[in-house]
Amino acid sequence: MKQHEQVLFKNRSPGETAFLETYRKSGGYQGLEKALTKMSPEQVREEVKKSGLRGRGGAGFATGMKWSFFPADKPGEKYLVCNGDEMEPGTYKDREILMADPHQLVEGMIISAYALQIPVGVIFIRYAYEQCSRNLERAIAEAMEAGLLGKNILKSDFSFELHLHRSAGRYICGEETALLNSLEGVRANPRSKPPFPAQKGIFGKPTNVNNVETFANVQHIIAHGSAWFKNLAFTESGSGTKLYCLSGHLERPECFELPIGISLGAVIEEYGGGVWRGRRFKAALPGGASTPYLTAEHLGVGLDFDPIEKAGSRLGTGAVTVFDETTCMVAATLNLNRFFARESCGWCTPCRDGLPFINWLLEKIENGQGEMGDIDMLREQIRNINGRTFCALAMGAMGPMQSLVDLFEEEIIDHIKKRCCPLKT
Ligand SMILES: Cc1cc2nc3c(=O)[nH]c(=O)nc-3n(C[C@H](O)[C@H](O)[C@H](O)COP(=O)(O)O)c2cc1C
Ligand code: SF4
Repeated sequence: MKQHEQVLFKNRSPGETAFLETYRKSGGYQGLEKALTKMSPEQVREEVKKSGLRGRGGAGFATGMKWSFFPADKPGEKYLVCNGDEMEPGTYKDREILMADPHQLVEGMIISAYALQIPVGVIFIRYAYEQCSRNLERAIAEAMEAGLLGKNILKSDFSFELHLHRSAGRYICGEETALLNSLEGVRANPRSKPPFPAQKGIFGKPTNVNNVETFANVQHIIAHGSAWFKNLAFTESGSGTKLYCLSGHLERPECFELPIGISLGAVIEEYGGGVWRGRRFKAALPGGASTPYLTAEHLGVGLDFDPIEKAGSRLGTGAVTVFDETTCMVAATLNLNRFFARESCGWCTPCRDGLPFINWLLEKIENGQGEMGDIDMLREQIRNINGRTFCALAMGAMGPMQSLVDLFEEEIIDHIKKRCCPLKT
C-alpha cells in the first residue's frame, strides 16, 4: 500500500483523538495566526479560490466561487454553518475527521468566518455522532480558553462565537436549506431557491454553508498556500486530497486519505484490499448512495469531479461502495430506493409518490412478477422525477436508478423472463 501525504489524517491514530496540545504541535492554528496577522479577509478568500477547493458535501461546488457570492463586506448579522449531518448511506468521512482531529474543523471555521466577516457560527451535527459532539465540545472549550475563539481572537479585532447544534436525525436535514429551517426550529423541509442562503439564510440573514471536510481543508490551504494544495492532486483538474470512505464487498472497508484523482481500481485493490472472498468486481457507487454505478470498464477512472462526470457518475461525497459478482443489482437498487423513499420530506409529488411507486415496481421485478412494460414504466418514472422536485434528494435517488436501467437492463430482463431473481436460484 503506497503512502501518500496525509493532511486531514496527519494526527489520526487508532482509538485516539488529537486535542489542542497535539494539534498545536503538528502545526495547528498556524493558518489562523497567518490569516489574522498577515492577510486581509479578501486575501484569504482569494487564496481559497486559487486553491481550486471544491465542496466535499456532495455537490462539488467550488468553495471560492460560493464565497464570492457572500456579502462579506456588508456589516451586520451573518451566519457561518457547518453541515455535519452526514446521513447518506456509505458516507462516514466527516465522522472520521471529528473522531481523529476535531480542532481542524474549529480552526477551518474561524478562518472562514474571518474571510467572510461573520461573527457567529453553528456546527450542525448528526444526532447519532455522540462522541464527535463530545470531541467538538472539548475542542471549542479549549480554543476559547486559549484565546483562539471568542472575543478579539489572538488579540486581533476579529471576534467569532461558535455553537454546536445536534440534528434531530433525518437525511433531509443535510440538504442545506432544510438544515436552515431545522436550525430555526421549524420542520426541515427544503426552501425553494432563489433566494440562496448567501442572501437569505437563517432568520433571513446571509448564511454560508459548507461541509466538515471542506472547512477542515481551509487552514491547510492558508498555512501552506494554494499551489501546494493543488499539487496534492493526481489530476490536472483536481486539487487537494480526498477522504474516500470504502464500504461493501471489500477486504478492507475503511476510510483512506488519498490524492484526488487516484483511480477507482487503485482504491479498490491497493487500499480496500480487493473484492472480498476472491470474488470478481461487478459495480461500485463511487460517491455515495445518490451517485450512478460504475462498472469494470471504469476501474481506470480517476476519482475526481470532472473525470467521474465524464464516465457518467459523480464524485459526490467520495464514499465508494463496492458490489461483488453475486450481487443482484435490482435488489441492491431497491434497497437504496427504500432509503430515499423513507427519507422523503413529502413536500413535492414526484418524490413523495414517485419513489414508493418505484419501490413497488422493483419489488415486483425482484419477486418474479415483473412484466416487460415495467422497464419503460421505470424509465418514465425517472424522467418524471428528474428536474421536477424542490430539492436534490429525489434526483439523487435517480442516480443509481438511471444507471440500473442503462447498465444492467439485461439483468432486469433476466428477472422478468425467468420469473424470479436469477441470483437467488
Ligand atoms: C438530501 C440531501 C442531503 C444532504 N446531506 C448533506 C450532508 O449530510 N452533509 C453535507 O455537507 N452536505 C449535504 N448535502 C449537500 C448540501 O445541501 C450542501 O450542498 C453542502 O452542505 C454544501 O457544502 P460544500 O459546498 O462544502 O459541499 C445534502 C444534500 C441533499 C439534497
Ligand atoms: S425532492 Fe423529496 S425531499 Fe426534496 S423537497 Fe421534494 S419531497 Fe422533499
